[in-house]
Amino acid sequence: MKVLVIGSGAREHALCRSLSLDPDVTELHCAPGNAGVAEVAQLHQVDALDGKAVAALATELGVGLVVVGPEAPLVAGVADVVREAGIPVFGPSREAAQLEGSKAFAKDVMAAAGVPTARSYVCTTADEVEEALDAFGAPYVVKDDGLAAGKGVVVTDDLEAAKAHAADCERVVIEEYLDGPEVSLFAVTDGETVLPLQPAQDFKRALDGDEGPNTGGMGAYSPLPWAQPKLVEDVLESVLQPTVDEMRRRGTPFSGLLYAGLAITSRGVRVIEFNARFGDPETQVVLARLRTPLAGVLLAAANGTLADLEPLRWSEDAAVTVVVASHNYPSTPRTGDPITGLAEVASEDAPHAYVLHAGTRQEGDAVVSAGGRVLSVTATGADLAEARRRAYTAVGRIGLEGSRHRTDIAARAAGADGA
Ligand code: AMP
Ligand code: GLY
Repeated sequence: MKVLVIGSGAREHALCRSLSLDPDVTELHCAPGNAGVAEVAQLHQVDALDGKAVAALATELGVGLVVVGPEAPLVAGVADVVREAGIPVFGPSREAAQLEGSKAFAKDVMAAAGVPTARSYVCTTADEVEEALDAFGAPYVVKDDGLAAGKGVVVTDDLEAAKAHAADCERVVIEEYLDGPEVSLFAVTDGETVLPLQPAQDFKRALDGDEGPNTGGMGAYSPLPWAQPKLVEDVLESVLQPTVDEMRRRGTPFSGLLYAGLAITSRGVRVIEFNARFGDPETQVVLARLRTPLAGVLLAAANGTLADLEPLRWSEDAAVTVVVASHNYPSTPRTGDPITGLAEVASEDAPHAYVLHAGTRQEGDAVVSAGGRVLSVTATGADLAEARRRAYTAVGRIGLEGSRHRTDIAARAAGADGA
């Protein structure tokens, strides 16, 4: 099978890496990709947001599957255009992607499906904002209603900061604060059958100790040694299946990857958010552990035949990924800096540790930074402690002026692992 992946982040590099290891994949293409993806796939300079251009490329290449990675093309309806061209596509329709594209829409679906989530108000005026903030009290949770690449959410004890963020947005969702650890659980679905993957944890804040502003995600690990054994089963039953069923009932079935961002509170599991695509950086650790070849799973979701698939097989290994971000991330990141040490990781640390590229580009012989999150250094091991050690050893070989990374990814969980 020939496969075309749309996107250019570390998630797409992880998807392409897994697809390149799948014996059923005969040709792998990516648009637009990055310097790392270029090592495993043929790159094409096509605008990921241009559905017609993506469909034309897929037709020209004769691919049997298109995988849309990021949210922006999904919300723009790229999957619809590809599907209309008669090519199987992994990724929800424009309408179904509203589960991620609008927090207010997601709340409405959850209410109809009886899915547990934070109580919330949708506000458009300063008076409504004030009333909602007052009703819930601190800590305040203020969310931009639209897409904001993980950076539209402010959680703060400072009432003025909460109001200021609300004033910056057209429409906000203000909600009750959820306490407890967060879990990212992905499920592959064809709109009917729901196949949960293994859970992961993401580190959203920029700095060690969960300090600093929210980012797209600074690292992740899987599995979660501290989680209840029945977590996945419970979330399938209380969150994932009811949401997929409700979307189908509305006439806008959701097929692709349903990502539930969850808080494990003292009162049970609550949905923090839905995303309509693989999470970044969680995908890097989840796919590192998936043994079932990936292309067949994604194709079954695209074709509506997930019910016929054998149960997924998982490695016993643990996986950790550490994001190396550019100077200044998550505010205006500096780009164009040369990256060193990539060859050393490949020669010294492979196959247990490897570098997935996020914002990079090739400039002559050099690979240079080209975005906020630059690399996602990923490693596996017998347990989290070993995976973590390997990941940080590899991070230590990377040179990128002014770059930053968190030093505490999976630290607490590795301790809980008994290692
Ligand atoms: P979201 O984009 O909705 O996932 O929010 C980004 C991050 O903000 C989440 O991963 C949480 O760390 C935090 N957050 C969002 N909603 C809440 C909430 N209701 N209570 C506590 N923290 C939240
Ligand atoms: N890791 C968070 C996200 O992908 O939105």
